[in-house]
Amino acid sequence: MDRTLILVKPDAFKRGLTGEIIARFERKGLRLVALEQRTLDEAIARQHYAEHEGKPFFGELVEFITSGPLVALVLEGQDAVKAARQVIGATNPLEAATGSIRGDFAIEVGQNMVHGSDSPESAEREAKLFFPNL
Ligand code: PPS
Repeated sequence: MDRTLILVKPDAFKRGLTGEIIARFERKGLRLVALEQRTLDEAIARQHYAEHEGKPFFGELVEFITSGPLVALVLEGQDAVKAARQVIGATNPLEAATGSIRGDFAIEVGQNMVHGSDSPESAEREAKLFFPNL
C-alpha cells in the first residue's frame, strides 16, 4: 500500500469544500489514515515547498498556504500518489479536466484548492513533516 500527503488549501477550506474534497478521494478508493486542521507558519510552509525555493512564484505560494486554516491528510491505497493526482487534476485549473477537483472548482493556479505529493518519496517526506508520529 502507498501513501500520499494531501493539503486542502486555505481557499478550499474557506469556501466550505473540505468535505466534498475528502469524499472525492474516498470515492476513488483511497483510505483516510490521518487528518488535521491547522494554520501553517512560514517555517513549515517553506519546508513543505523547499524544492520550489527560488522559483518566481515561491513567495506567493508560501503567503497563500499560510493565509488561513487548511486540512492536511494522509491517504493510503494502491498507487496512492498517482490516484490522488488524477482526482486533483492538472496544476493550472484551466487545463484540469472537468470532473477533477481543480477542473470543477478553481480558475487560478495561485488558488488551486489542493496539494498532492508528486512522488512516493515526496509523500514520505511530507507526511512526516505533518504527522511525525504516523
Ligand atoms: S514546477 O515549476 O513545475 O516544479 O511547479 P509545479 O510543480 O507545477 O508547482 C509547484 C507548486 O507551486 C504551485 N504553483 C504556483 N503557485 C502560485 N503561482 C503560480 N504561478 C504557480 N505555479 C505553480 C503549484 O500549485 C504547486 O503547489 P502544490 O501545492 O503542489 O499544488
